[in-house]
Amino acid sequence: MARRRGGNPSLNAALALLLLCRLCGSFAGPVHVDPHVTAVWGKNITLKCLIEVNETITQISWERIIGKGAQTIAVHHPIYGTSFEESYQQRTTFKNTSLHDATIVINNIEFSDAGEYICKAVTFPLGNVQSSTTVTVFVEPTVSISKGPEPLLDGGNETVAAYCTAATGKPAAEVSWEGSLGRMETNVTSYPNKTVTVMSQYRLVPSRFARGRNITCVVKHPALENDIRYPFTLDIQYAPEVSITGYDDNWFVGRTDVYLKCNSDANPSPTEIKWTRLDGIWPEGLQSVNNTLLFSLPLTHNVSGIYACKVANALGQKSDQKIITILDKTQSIQREVRFQEKPCFKGYLVADSRRSRYWSRSCCFFYYNICDCVSNSQEKTSPIL
Ligand SMILES: *[C@@H]1O[C@H](CO)[C@@H](O)[C@H](O)[C@H]1NC(C)=O
Ligand SMILES: *[C@@H]1O[C@H](CO)[C@@H](O)[C@H](O)[C@H]1NC(C)=O
Ligand SMILES: *[C@@H]1O[C@H](CO)[C@@H](O)[C@H](O)[C@H]1NC(C)=O
Ligand SMILES: *[C@@H]1O[C@H](CO)[C@@H](O)[C@H](O)[C@H]1NC(C)=O
Ligand SMILES: *[C@@H]1O[C@H](CO)[C@@H](O)[C@H](O)[C@H]1NC(C)=O
Ligand SMILES: *[C@@H]1O[C@H](CO)[C@@H](O)[C@H](O)[C@H]1NC(C)=O
Ligand SMILES: *[C@@H]1O[C@H](CO)[C@@H](O)[C@H](O)[C@H]1NC(C)=O
Ligand SMILES: *[C@@H]1O[C@H](CO)[C@@H](O)[C@H](O)[C@H]1NC(C)=O
Ligand SMILES: *[C@@H]1O[C@H](CO)[C@@H](O)[C@H](O)[C@H]1NC(C)=O
Repeated sequence: MARRRGGNPSLNAALALLLLCRLCGSFAGPVHVDPHVTAVWGKNITLKCLIEVNETITQISWERIIGKGAQTIAVHHPIYGTSFEESYQQRTTFKNTSLHDATIVINNIEFSDAGEYICKAVTFPLGNVQSSTTVTVFVEPTVSISKGPEPLLDGGNETVAAYCTAATGKPAAEVSWEGSLGRMETNVTSYPNKTVTVMSQYRLVPSRFARGRNITCVVKHPALENDIRYPFTLDIQYAPEVSITGYDDNWFVGRTDVYLKCNSDANPSPTEIKWTRLDGIWPEGLQSVNNTLLFSLPLTHNVSGIYACKVANALGQKSDQKIITILDKTQSIQREVRFQEKPCFKGYLVADSRRSRYWSRSCCFFYYNICDCVSNSQEKTSPIL
């Protein structure tokens, strides 16, 4: 009997193991830790450990598994105080003075901090209780965006619009683009310290219609609380598009305050906007101001002709032209009556004093949807409506 009770070493070992395992399980046991903790290189980490036993706790500590052994890195004793392993000394603290709380904070996490840690409490009379935590060290990538090496030229071949780089992250960052104007191509470079640089280029066939549109680089990484999003505005270059506006086919002798406007769309901005007359001499009283050709004197037949506006930028030049025909006043009124839709003023308009030399009275009509007023004090004797 005596032999059987005390003498079976394997049974005793099994019982001891059973007891130990009942106490060491991190889920059901009295020592509560996070089984997996993610640390970010250069940042701080909190290793939580709460000990829930009713017995007396005589000491709490953290150990690190190194190979097959363990090294104590932090220990707290109610009488002897706290002590830390050398490489943790400067950057580790117990968060609480309570023996039931062995939580530590380690600052400035390094690659070498990755591994398995054990939180252990020595109790009386039960003995040791413990649980383990695995620490993984991530490295936040350095994210940047930059434009491609070549300008984006309208109508050109597929060109790199932008590069987005998530440098030296661990694990590799996930880089993607929003914008659906082109396609991405990604290069990955790994380094001996297990970090990875992901470089993604966004390529597209440049079209002027995409100018000002945004593409956005999106970087996802487990060390980042939120995805990093960098928008990039497309700067597509193109030669000018030119159009002349301002002529309403109803320019007649004596009409004032008319102009031609040279509208251009160009990127980069036009370096030159030039008005010329193609079929004769430049009439008196025409002033080119910025992109507008002002007719500062009342119109005469001398103004009839072909006018061109030429716009140039770094990528080329374009022009548009307009044939101007100055009508006789009577012609104008006839046309106006023929094409009139409805008057925009009922009856006569008495013009202001500044114009009174020409326009003692005016009659106004919608003509091609423009409210146009002509003097009728001489030609017409009665209002139309
Ligand atoms: C890490 O802890 C140190 C010391 O407590 C503190 O100065 C620092 O701001 C903390 N850093 C971060 C990223 O929380
Ligand atoms: C500690 O004691 C309390 C009250 O006596 C009891 O409810 C609890 O289950 C005990 N905890 C452990 C881990 O034995
Ligand atoms: C320390 O532990 C005590 C008791 O568990 C708790 O009340 C207190 O909030 C803790 N302090 C810190 C700083 O965690
Ligand atoms: C576009 O690509 C084709 C074929 O690679 C090449 O022959 C052509 O010169 C390129 N055009 C421009 C504008 O770069
Ligand atoms: C990506 O890698 C390929 C093959 O190594 C190389 O030819 C290409 O130039 C790289 N692209 C970038 C953007 O670095
Ligand atoms: C890892 O190695 C790369 C390349 O040598 C280096 O640029 C980077 O700073 C290193 N990262 C860390 C966290 O040491
Ligand atoms: C494009 O991104 C810029 C910021 O870089 C922002 O100001 C602008 O509103 C965005 N444009 C569009 C159309 O979303
Ligand atoms: C011409 O353009 C310049 C620059 O845009 C502007 O400052 C100036 O006022 C314009 N002149 C006139 C007469 O509109
Ligand atoms: C029209 O042009 C001719 C020749 O340049 C000039 O002699 C004449 O005075 C002009 N007529 C008007 C109304 O400006």
